[in-house]
Amino acid sequence: MQTTILGRTNLCVSRMGIGAGGPSRLGKRTGKSESECVDILRQAFDAGVNLVDTSDTYSTESIIGQAIQGRDRSSIVISTKKSTRRKEVTPKTIEQNLNHSLQCLGTDYIDIYSLHGVVPQDYDYLVSEVYATLQKAREQGKIRFIGLTEMFNEDMTHITLRQGLEDDLWDVVMVGFNILNQTARQAVLQNAIQHNVGVQVMFALRKALSHPNDLQAFVAHLIQKGEIDPADVDRQNPLGFLDASTVSLADAAYRFCRDEPGVHVVLSGTGNPEHLAANVASFDRPPLPEADVQRLRHIFRNVASTTGQSMIEDSGR
Ligand SMILES: NC(=O)c1ccc[n+]([C@@H]2O[C@H](COP(=O)([O-])OP(=O)(O)OC[C@H]3O[C@@H](n4cnc5c(N)ncnc54)[C@H](OP(=O)(O)O)[C@@H]3O)[C@@H](O)[C@H]2O)c1
Repeated sequence: MQTTILGRTNLCVSRMGIGAGGPSRLGKRTGKSESECVDILRQAFDAGVNLVDTSDTYSTESIIGQAIQGRDRSSIVISTKKSTRRKEVTPKTIEQNLNHSLQCLGTDYIDIYSLHGVVPQDYDYLVSEVYATLQKAREQGKIRFIGLTEMFNEDMTHITLRQGLEDDLWDVVMVGFNILNQTARQAVLQNAIQHNVGVQVMFALRKALSHPNDLQAFVAHLIQKGEIDPADVDRQNPLGFLDASTVSLADAAYRFCRDEPGVHVVLSGTGNPEHLAANVASFDRPPLPEADVQRLRHIFRNVASTTGQSMIEDSGR
């Protein structure tokens, strides 16, 4: 597994991170038992993945706590978050949530502690009212680095992260980026490189890039909205031009994100051991051919109204 340095944190991280949220939550949402979820994490760690991302709302912190037992704590980078959307967030709730997360994770420090899903309208309040509490937690040694994550499905043009990078208060950001919606390239990644901020990518796959039929439907929808030029794409097989060495849509999706300048870690969420093994293999493959990357950039250059998760959600925009 390839590794890199996560920007200003200096943490050495695997290019693939395991996401313990999303549609699978390690399998918790897809009918797997708790011990199967623990096994997914162990499989990932054994394959060289050393970063795991969770949140106080995913109900997977205790699963991570079990999976890291018996391992050298310093070999795993734990990223967890405090939800902010439609939640009361005060210095007191931050302190309480942080202590609860530490307890569930069975650790005395968290490597990356982020404000989770921050919408643009809450950003100023959170900086003025609770940022100091995060700094205090860092001084106490409960967290090592402070992060910010966006609410991609409500903020597809990255207003929160653009502001966050300008303020330069955050060691790590988590951004929505994938083959379909590449707006983060201009809006976030360039600035993150300048400020040496660590970047985790979420939504690399989701529904649109999990299955060819889903991709077809998303592309048809985006053509209808005028965001994809029909002359650029084969509607029946939109990514059929990819080099024969690309083994699946998921393979293309993860490698496309991995090799985007400015991206350090691409989160992959799964509760399926076969998918996990396939995804690990993708991260070990060389870059997609440059001609394919350029064509993917070209086809989707004007797309800004989807996360790749749900066309129903996207139709309102
Ligand atoms: N605002 C925020 O801060 C925020 C929001 C969302 C997510 N996140 C973080 O980002 C992480 C990554 O997002 P995500 O979980 O949605 O990951 P993702 O990798 O974009 O998509 C995961 C989905 O793809 C499927 N999948 C995975 N590998 C596959 C493969 N090889 N072939 C076909 N399908 C495959 C999974 O189902 P199976 O279980 O069947 O494999 C799951 O439904 C989350 O886990 C969470 O930690 C953060």
